[in-house]
Amino acid sequence: MQQFDYTELIEIIQQKIDVSAYSIGFINNVITTRMEQLKIETPFMYAAIISHDESEIEKIKANLTNSHSLFFRNRLTFETLRQVYLPVIMTQKKDEDEIRIWSAGCAGGQEPYTLAILMESVINNWKSELKYRIFATDSNFKEIERAVLGIYSKADIVNLTWHEIDTWFTHSAKRYSLVPQLKKNVQFELFDLFDNDCNCPRTSIFGGFDIIMLANVLIYYKEEMQNKLLKRLKSCKTKQGIIITGETEREIFLRNEYVELYPNSCIFR
Ligand SMILES: C[S@@+](CC[C@H](N)C(=O)[O-])C[C@H]1O[C@@H](n2cnc3c(N)ncnc32)[C@H](O)[C@@H]1O
Repeated sequence: MQQFDYTELIEIIQQKIDVSAYSIGFINNVITTRMEQLKIETPFMYAAIISHDESEIEKIKANLTNSHSLFFRNRLTFETLRQVYLPVIMTQKKDEDEIRIWSAGCAGGQEPYTLAILMESVINNWKSELKYRIFATDSNFKEIERAVLGIYSKADIVNLTWHEIDTWFTHSAKRYSLVPQLKKNVQFELFDLFDNDCNCPRTSIFGGFDIIMLANVLIYYKEEMQNKLLKRLKSCKTKQGIIITGETEREIFLRNEYVELYPNSCIFR
């Protein structure tokens, strides 16, 4: 499809939904996708539709909230966490301490439950008595509901080994349900990362996270919003705490003076 200037179109959309935090590249992609789906050839024709059709505005809204996720989305990152950084964090803790983790932008729960699988496996290997708690937040209520339910399709678990599936799920008729043991230390909360009153999940009370995972969320936002969020997150972690991101977001962290702890691991301090 021909490349158009969508400036006027974005102004019309902005009158109906607040898209000011999103990157222009991302909004342009959403508009191009909708125009292709509707077989509309010019921004002028699409402007006529969005000016009158509220259901099209709802479609744009839905496309602005990409909730794609997977268990063990990036194996290298999670294995580095399992082999190297979780043991380091555990040795820094006393028996009565708790490891505190925040999955920020947790979608349907695949990411926080992956972190729970890692915690269970490391605690089991070390025969440790340490406790852990995972706070998982998202701004999309439907995703939080799905996460609390903990029922997944085969597509969600493609990166899991048979052993992991066998240990952590019961399955029937193409549905994979998490076992209660994995859910007990994960708590979900509806929370917008740009909340004006609170930097970290309200249920966590004071933050103090050993691990924050913010993956595949920043890429949708403007540089100014990315920088603002990364500054806020620094205040939510412990001094030795780490922040984990997605492969496409490493550059944003490096630009914000975070240090990658192991090459290409997406694990930062
Ligand atoms: C593409 S998914 C990534 C999920 C998971 N972190 C992963 O890497 O697989 C992005 C998620 O971030 C959430 N999100 C986007 N902006 C947010 C915001 N401002 N506050 C909270 N969650 C947000 C979306 O609702 C969506 O569920």
